[in-house]
Amino acid sequence: MADTGVFVGQAESGDKLPQVLLYSRANRHGLVAGATGTGKTVTLQVIAQEFSDAGVPVFAADIKGDLSGVALPGAPNEKLLARAEAMQLDLKPAAAPVIFWDLFGKKGHPIRSTISEMGPLLLARLLELNDTQEGVLNIVFHVADKQGLMLLDIADLRAMLNHVSENAKAISAEYGQVAPASIATIQRALLQLETQGADGFFGEPALKLSDLMRTTPDGRGYINVLAANQLIESPRLYSTFLLWLMSELFEELPEVGDPEKPRLVFFFDEAHLLFREASPALLQKIEQVVRLIRSKGVGIYFVTQNPADIPDSVLAQLGNRVQHALRAYTPAEQKGLKAAAQSFRPNPAFDTQTAIQDLGVGEALVSLLDEKGRPTITEKTLIRPPASRLGPANDAERAQVMASSPVGALYDTAVDRHSAYEVLTQRTVVTAAPEPEPEPEVEEDRETKAEERARLAEEKRRQRETERTTKQVTSVAVSVIRSVGVALGRELIRGMFGTVKRRR
Ligand SMILES: Nc1ncnc2c1ncn2[C@@H]1O[C@H](COP(=O)(O)OP(=O)(O)OP(=O)(O)O)[C@@H](O)[C@H]1O
Ligand SMILES: [Mg+2]
Repeated sequence: MADTGVFVGQAESGDKLPQVLLYSRANRHGLVAGATGTGKTVTLQVIAQEFSDAGVPVFAADIKGDLSGVALPGAPNEKLLARAEAMQLDLKPAAAPVIFWDLFGKKGHPIRSTISEMGPLLLARLLELNDTQEGVLNIVFHVADKQGLMLLDIADLRAMLNHVSENAKAISAEYGQVAPASIATIQRALLQLETQGADGFFGEPALKLSDLMRTTPDGRGYINVLAANQLIESPRLYSTFLLWLMSELFEELPEVGDPEKPRLVFFFDEAHLLFREASPALLQKIEQVVRLIRSKGVGIYFVTQNPADIPDSVLAQLGNRVQHALRAYTPAEQKGLKAAAQSFRPNPAFDTQTAIQDLGVGEALVSLLDEKGRPTITEKTLIRPPASRLGPANDAERAQVMASSPVGALYDTAVDRHSAYEVLTQRTVVTAAPEPEPEPEVEEDRETKAEERARLAEEKRRQRETERTTKQVTSVAVSVIRSVGVALGRELIRGMFGTVKRRR
């Protein structure tokens, strides 16, 4: 509707001003909050679809499956039509272009990452390791990097752990204590991850970020919908995965300052899971990435039941706010309500705290950033009805969307490359830190090596670019581990979260 921004809805009093989330301020992040059933997902759906219409790709997790309806045209009932009419909106049913993804590969195209790309820091969080165990995992990664053993899937990591365990004495002498008990704990945690079905997530082909930033030939942004109903059963995997994705975006994308439109909008549903049990060091990194990713043109929108679930340092950076109704029965809820109310620029026409409690379904207090980046006066707003379907897509509809997806051919089939597991199981004599055997020069391998060299060159170029642009801010934070993989001539550069800076 508006060509400068997303039409979120219409103020209910005064001049009934349209509430517009400016494209040029969309990278100043945002918050969608409210108690269960108050309209958060629908708000996310309307904002996502309008970004898509404006050519901006979106990524959003679909916790309950109801966001999938965005892939289908709506069938507005009388209530929705009346709502549209109240805001003089011509509600034309329309579907958004959608790519369904699923870490388990069932309700969408599989999303994969490699163990190596995930890195020791995030993996330690995923496996719920303590400091000592995390230290051991770091050594395992270091030895693998040094020996040019690729850690792609869980089998690779397991083989590598065994390898380190068998050579514990020599490795401990060089890198620090690796206790067998720590290795055993990590092995057990890996097994648990596998029983959760997460083994499919680690492997190749790994997700390329550019595939999350696609547009259609007619210039609309794809909405990447991540099926999260099963994923949310493993909150650690869910939150670590999204954290990984955020850090990848941060590491990979070039600086663009404040673009006219964001390059990608990222919705982080059940956002409180991200911060639950996060160490102070991790919290600091999240806060830092949220702050810095803005100049890469990425807008992050946290969706949560209560804004009090989000640390103040992060909350303070969320400029665009949509607050649905909150209930406040318990003392904790009352505290949350008070904090939520205080974060809004007051409107003299009403008391914010009372208003939040009185909001109906699909109504919200809205305050968005203006051209100068100031929060607008809070307005009680009727959220616009979606043009796409309110409610889930069924299995057949989902399958149809997936069949015509631009990425199916790229990701639907897993690939198992020659990596640590294969190398280590083939070795007959293993010494502590052996000169890795040259790999057999078969035709395929030569091709792989040429590819690796090309990737390496590209990696270096990107690395220089990233280093140049983020030097001032990240020079302290980034612990760059350089280790030359002798066998493959690879150089692994690890970023802010210890994830590998990718070569592509
Ligand atoms: N903008 C809107 N226009 C019309 N109807 C709406 C709107 N927002 C919400 N509704 C109605 O309210 C219902 C619940 O909304 P929604 O699913 O978005 O809540 P939620 O806050 O995401 O809940 P939960 O926390 O349980 O996921 C919707 O199915 C829809 O019928
Ligand atoms: Mg919801």
